[in-house]
Formats: sequence, structure tokens, C-alpha cells
Amino acid sequence: MEFLRNIYNWIDVRLGTHEIITEKRTGYLLPRNVNAWYSLGSVLLVIFCLQIITGMLLMLYYVPDIDKAFDSVSFIMTEIPLGRLVRLFHAVGSSMMLLVLLLHMFSILFMGSYKSPRELHWLTGFFLLLLAMGISLTGYLLPWNQLSFWATTVATDCASSIPFIGENLVELLRGGKQVGLHTLGRFYTLHVGLLPALIAVLIGVHLFLIQRTGVSTPPFGLEDTSNQWKGESFVYEEHPGGIPFFPNFFLQDMISISLYLACFMVFVFFFPNIFIPSTSYVPANPLVTPSHIKPEWYFLANYQTLKLFPSEIIGLTVQAIAMAFLALLPFIDRGEEKHPLKRPLFTFCAVSGILLWIGMTVWGLYS
Ligand code: HEM
Repeated sequence: MEFLRNIYNWIDVRLGTHEIITEKRTGYLLPRNVNAWYSLGSVLLVIFCLQIITGMLLMLYYVPDIDKAFDSVSFIMTEIPLGRLVRLFHAVGSSMMLLVLLLHMFSILFMGSYKSPRELHWLTGFFLLLLAMGISLTGYLLPWNQLSFWATTVATDCASSIPFIGENLVELLRGGKQVGLHTLGRFYTLHVGLLPALIAVLIGVHLFLIQRTGVSTPPFGLEDTSNQWKGESFVYEEHPGGIPFFPNFFLQDMISISLYLACFMVFVFFFPNIFIPSTSYVPANPLVTPSHIKPEWYFLANYQTLKLFPSEIIGLTVQAIAMAFLALLPFIDRGEEKHPLKRPLFTFCAVSGILLWIGMTVWGLYS
């Protein structure tokens, strides 16, 4: 203990860490009615860090070559000590990241935290969601198994229905007419290089914006005396008499992170096959099309929507309009009221939209 205290003092003398903790963290007050949903952002930060660590460990043995990729993943799973655990952490973690991202987004929707002056927070978050979907899609191909090969063939093929540029776009994504060596090279570069870097930068911008405005006041719970933004000039939303971030809310963050890790471990240790189905254990074969090709659960709704319409371009246009609406929501919904029950039209539309998405996902799973 004494040894740790000495190290802390050594660092404190050089960096003034005590001042950071007491003034910046203890003095950083959150609304009195802040709730557990506000800790999902911290859970996401932990998930992202875990994905980076496990991803770097996988890179030590993974070979991005169509003749070697499948075997290198099998080697990691069977021969490398703890290799199976690291791979499951990474594969299950990517799905869990998307699940928590959606929960974070839904909580912000219902608490109205996307409203002015937080349009940019929402927009950066929305792009983070797109990038997270992109990093999952590109990572899915890397094990080079039947499922990943054919799911990528179907996913990239969707782009071909875009008028004029469709065919060129597919070739750009695949690096050729078919999914092959160059597709694997491109997806690998995106997955381990460009996309993680973009996500890290965007998370930085997202956190910077939150630091500048302060967190929003939830529309329910204890009454809060914050200085709400009126639209004339920049205001930092202060919460006098609020809850200190450190140690109070930090404890809530730790509880949420521990709960998340407990659920995560349940999936990793007891139900990993939900995320890695049996077709993932068969090497990719471009000559044999499996009878059922399904994308990952987070793309099932998109996949089912495409099947509903007589032509793919109509399906893609409907989805593009829905995504644009979601991205621009803070600019469309300008009302000041944030309580979900006091804006019934919004709540009705949001709940219907979420139920529709869940319905399409389940339909896509069983169709
Ligand atoms: C890797 C992805 C993400 C990370 C690491 C992240 C992190 C955070 C953190 C730490 C906070 C502050 C506390 C909180 O309210 O939870 C926050 C707030 C916020 N996030 Fe995210 N977020 C991510 C994705 C998203 C997405 C997908 C959206 C929506 C499309 C979004 C929209 C917002 C908004 C509007 C706030 C402000 C809430 C307020 O001030 O009350 N974020 N985020």
C-alpha cells in the first residue's frame, strides 16, 4: 500500500493528478436526477478498448490471405493458449458493442438529450454507429469461412442496384468482379487501420462536445436547477447542487461496466454459438452456395426490408430515407419538451419504429 502511495505521490508531484481528481472530477457536477442510462457511454468506451486489445492479440497470428486465413483462425482457436477466449471476446464483443450502442441511442431518444444545443453530439454519435456497423461488416469476412464469404458476397452485391455507379462501386469494394483475395486485403486494411482510427477520432470529438456543453438534464426524477440553454449564445449547462462525477457517478459507471462484463461473460462462456454458428466452421468455397445465407443480427432488418420490395433500389432508397431521417432528427424535432409522455406523437413514432425494426429482425431470422 505504502509502495502504491509513493508511486501516486511521485506522479502527482509531476502532473498534479490530485488537482485533476479533486477539482476537475469531484468538481464536475452532474444533474441531481442523473440516471444509470448515462453510464452507457462509459460502458461503450470500455467495450471499444477491449475490442482494440483483443483485435491486436488476434493480429499476432491471423494471416490475411485467402489460402491461410481460415487455417490461421483455426490455429488461434485450437493451438494458441487462451486463443479461443481472445477470439470469442472479439467476436462476441463486436455484437455486444452494437447492442449497447443501440441502447445508448434509444435512451438519448427517449430523454430528448439530442435536442438543441446537442445536435453535433447526436451527429457524431450517428456516424459512430455507421462506423461500428462498417467495422463489424469488414471484420466478418476475415475468418474466410462459408458464412462470411457468402454474407459478404450478398452484402456487396446490394450496391450493384444503385443506378449508374452500382457496378463500379461493387468492383471498388471487392477489388474485382468476385469476392476474393483483393476483397480480403481491402476489408483487412479497413478493419484494422482506417475504421478503428476514424472511430477513435470521432469518440474524441464526441467526448469533447460533451465536455463543452456539460451533460443534459434528464426530463424526469428529482428536480434539477440547471441553467438551460436559451439559444442566444453558448452556455455550459451547470448543475449547482448536483452529483459529483468522482466518486459518486464514477461508482455508477463501475456498477454498469461490471454488470455489462457479467452479461458479456455469460455469452462468451455459455452461448458463444449464438454469434459463431456452425457454418463458420466450414472454409469458404466460392463454388458451393449454402442454402441459407443470413447476415449478422444487426443487418437482418435491412436484409429483410430488401427482400420485401420488388426491386432492390426501392428497398435501398427506403432505408436511406429512414437513416437520413434518424441522422437529422435533432434538426427536424425542434420542440423544447423532452419528457417522453409529454410528447406522445414522438414517443408513438419512436416506439413503433423500434418495434418495426425488432419485427423485421425476427422475421429476417426465421424467413
Ligand atoms: C462508440 C460509440 C459511443 C461512445 C463511446 C459514446 C460515449 C458517450 C459518453 C461517454 C457520453 C456522456 C454520458 C452519457 O450520456 O452516456 C455520451 C453522450 C451522448 N451520446 Fe454518445 N457515445 C457513442 C455513440 C453514440 C451514438 C450512436 C449516439 C446517437 C446516435 C450518441 C449520442 C450521444 C448524445 C446526444 C450524448 C449527449 C447526452 C447528454 O448530454 O445527456 N452517442 N456518449
